[in-house]
Amino acid sequence: MEVTPQMRAATLAAVEALLDRPCSGPPPGQLHGLVRAAIERRREYLDAALRFGTPQYLLELGQAAAGAARFTAAFAAPGRVTRVHYAFKANPTLPLVQALQQAGLSADASSGLELELALRCGFEHIVLSGPAKTDDELNLALEHPARVTVHLDSFAEWERLEALADRRGVGIDVGVRLNTQGHGLWTKFGIPLNALPELVARERPGGRIRLRGVQFHLSWNRSASGYLQTLAEFGPALAAHRPAAGWAFVDIGGGYYPEDDEAVYPWMTPVGRLLSLVGQWPTDGPPPAWDGNCLVPPVQPIETMAAQINEAFAAHVERPLGPVALWLEPGRYLANPTTQLLLRVVDIKAPDVAITDGGTNLLGWERLELEHCPLINLTRPAATQRPGKVYGSLCTPHDLWGYASYAADLQVGDVLMLPAQGAYVQTLAQRFIKPLCQTVVMAANGTLSLGRSAEAFLERYPEFATAAGSVEG
Ligand SMILES: Cc1ncc(COP(=O)(O)O)c(C=O)c1O
Repeated sequence: MEVTPQMRAATLAAVEALLDRPCSGPPPGQLHGLVRAAIERRREYLDAALRFGTPQYLLELGQAAAGAARFTAAFAAPGRVTRVHYAFKANPTLPLVQALQQAGLSADASSGLELELALRCGFEHIVLSGPAKTDDELNLALEHPARVTVHLDSFAEWERLEALADRRGVGIDVGVRLNTQGHGLWTKFGIPLNALPELVARERPGGRIRLRGVQFHLSWNRSASGYLQTLAEFGPALAAHRPAAGWAFVDIGGGYYPEDDEAVYPWMTPVGRLLSLVGQWPTDGPPPAWDGNCLVPPVQPIETMAAQINEAFAAHVERPLGPVALWLEPGRYLANPTTQLLLRVVDIKAPDVAITDGGTNLLGWERLELEHCPLINLTRPAATQRPGKVYGSLCTPHDLWGYASYAADLQVGDVLMLPAQGAYVQTLAQRFIKPLCQTVVMAANGTLSLGRSAEAFLERYPEFATAAGSVEG
């Protein structure tokens, strides 16, 4: 590829501009809150490691109930129906889903599997969401029209659901996912806001598809601003175009970030990547003399986000439309703090290279090369980080847990904890080389039990369970 003089000049100017604003990102710091909480409760976690072994996902049901109560209280508004649907995709582990059902939440299912789980767990209010729903999934929803609202993703899906509903002679409530220009890549989902008139016109008087609401979803929100902007955009459109029975709900989706959850390595910022690219910093891992600080993007507490969203909902939706229910679909916020990953050091290869008994197949991908989550030595804890790479048990160098650990020392047999691994971790874990690990459940009263054993040979190779597959000799 030829670099023209114009491209060269523009690139050099862009690089200078980048280097001129070194501190424009989030403030440097560490996730001390997460570390402190882990160290305070280290005896309980060490007990779980001792009794059940490592690696293990330790699921804390007390955290699930506390998170559900806090989220629900934050969004409660007098005179309004507010419904919190837990997004199963974040973590559909059975005891977690059951605990959230008992905490009074509703369900957000995004596949037939998740819908069946929600139905079997006894959820009374379920949304079936997501693109490319199959006829089987739509039929399952039609078997339970009193409990399931289908969030349609396109006009074509409306037609398919309508045909299936007519065939069964069953009516069902639907919402429709809308996207707005602000959603960028997210235009994959739903229909554009400017198609709302066509959508409303599609409802047949007395037809089986009852248009009751709209849904949107924005991911990874550390503040309320995206929700406020979208509600302001939706309000006038919903007021101008209403279905025959009016709008019953607006579902604002998930995307609420937990506080004190993860941080950005300095070498993964634009300036850091530039320095690595031009050879000033190493191509992988920390620069020499890294002080252990990361960049910690500030996250609004859920109460602050909820207060702002509630106000915007009142102003843009309820004021023009009258009473409308607010539906939400949090996944990460509820699931992430519930699960801690416990590992054990099995080898010290060099003073700054430790190997653990669990691999990052338990996370699903090489996430910790890119993002920082604190790694805490529960056996020999420290409030500050000790440099040294901690690897997993897989045959790949990308199997890395961290570049440093909160440890006074690291020795073979020490138990390490990676806290807050409850969302999009077990769902993404891979059967790569090693088995998927066990899940241990800590009840709200602290009692421990085995939730699910580590993956066994016959689960991976059920063919050997039959006579024809048995091993000869
Ligand atoms: C429609 C919808 N609702 C809810 C969620 C849950 O989001 P989060 O886990 O970020 O709260 C997602 C996640 O992708 C989603 O697509």
